[in-house]
Amino acid sequence: MTDKYRKKVHYKDLIATFDDVLILPGFTNFNPDEVDVSSSIGKYYFHLPIMSAAMDTVTEEEMAIKMALNGGLGVLHRNCSYERQLEMCRIVKRARSFVIDDVATISPNAPLTKAKFMMDNYNISGIVVVNDKEDKKVCGIFTKRDIPFLEKDMKNGVIKDYMTKDVISIKPGASREEALKILYESRKEKLPIIDDKGYLKGLITKKDLAPEFPLASKDEEGHLLCALALSPKFPESSHAQNLLKEIEKYVDMFFIDVADFYKKTDIEDTVKLMRFLESDFILGNIGTYQAAEHIITKCDFVEDQFIGLKVGMGSGSICTTSIQTGVGAPTLFATAQAADAIHDYNPKLSLIADGGFKNPGDIPKAIAAGADLVMSGHFFAGCTESPGLLDTIQGRKVKVYRGMGSTEARTSGYVSDRYGKGSKMLTEGVSDYVPYTGDLLGVLSTLKEGLINGMIYAGAGSIKKMRNAELGIVTPIGQREQKPHDLLGY
Ligand code: XMP
Repeated sequence: MTDKYRKKVHYKDLIATFDDVLILPGFTNFNPDEVDVSSSIGKYYFHLPIMSAAMDTVTEEEMAIKMALNGGLGVLHRNCSYERQLEMCRIVKRARSFVIDDVATISPNAPLTKAKFMMDNYNISGIVVVNDKEDKKVCGIFTKRDIPFLEKDMKNGVIKDYMTKDVISIKPGASREEALKILYESRKEKLPIIDDKGYLKGLITKKDLAPEFPLASKDEEGHLLCALALSPKFPESSHAQNLLKEIEKYVDMFFIDVADFYKKTDIEDTVKLMRFLESDFILGNIGTYQAAEHIITKCDFVEDQFIGLKVGMGSGSICTTSIQTGVGAPTLFATAQAADAIHDYNPKLSLIADGGFKNPGDIPKAIAAGADLVMSGHFFAGCTESPGLLDTIQGRKVKVYRGMGSTEARTSGYVSDRYGKGSKMLTEGVSDYVPYTGDLLGVLSTLKEGLINGMIYAGAGSIKKMRNAELGIVTPIGQREQKPHDLLGY
């Protein structure tokens, strides 16, 4: 049994947390621009090992899209109905893919004014012309360039007399490179996807092909990765089961989302869910080696679908679990515990360190303790992309950030099963304001730079190597020294 990671954060019987440790500097034998911060969970690849938390004041569709576009992942929260979850997942999955599924079409006999109306109101510059008689096959394309110059022609004209009949198209399943080549050679802006029988299957536009976000986290078809938090409870009604199946069409990863997953009932329910669904699962949260060992070795999870563990209990900035119950597992400690169990029993599993991050430097510390990726609500709740309106307190711009165990979040009823039975009346989180921090990109850049520089100091050129970095426990005097000190302002 290894204690490779645990011994890094153990000092006698102390449970260490981020501020208790420092990464020891290591020999750096690579150039700063060679540092690779990419990581993965199962088959999913991330250019940035950072996730936004599944909380209703942190991650809805806007945050999830921006996180994925910038190389990370936003896990959509579950404090809402299945209908709303379906809507969020659909929006994330359909955003920014290079194939447009809902293509605007028009009949060849439609007046030009209808095409003009569609272009002006739907903000599109080209419409595929589809036969309105028997077969609905593609018969042309009408773009802004085809709009007649004279006002009277525009008023009286019909699509079929002005459309381009010789449609340059591409077959379904073609790659981004093939599409780029055809668009370049034909000097066109739009490329309808047409199958062998002549039916429209989608549209590719030059604009969407441009790699505006080269680091985006994508699935095999080029769509953004979509992750959703899920209660372990199996839905009772067939209506809810059908909705969950519909939601699954847009989801790559489900995050089982409870405060303490090391529970017989939650484990059994999750096994049932895994058999009902086909997507991948990340299970959590847990806090000890024993919990990780039990979950990896003693449960009936579908092996291929179980791809990761998420750890940290009571350490979140909005958590009061440890105050209310006396129980907790600080994220750094929990990470090292689970990392050893993963090392011992199933090194294929990924590990996510969740919550408790106060400073950018806490991220490299979590990775040195064995994490593959980190999750935070605190870093992202104040961003433009988080749900909720901006407020002003004493001249400072602020946003609301609340724990999923706070009274405010739990009155919705959807997350009451996140906490233990006995805690129905006991709040395990608070709601407060956090400073407005501007656009997500700025926050992510700071976190990424901190991680890269931490890795350079530690002498680790990749996340995998960073997991071997040494941590040392700091004395209380040492902790004081880490911060600015002996200055007028401190
Ligand atoms: P940070 O430190 O980023 O932590 O604010 C976010 C993580 O905290 C967990 N979470 C809670 N834990 N009571 C808890 O004990 C709560 O009300 C609560 N809400 C969220 C969750 O794991 C999240 O990712």
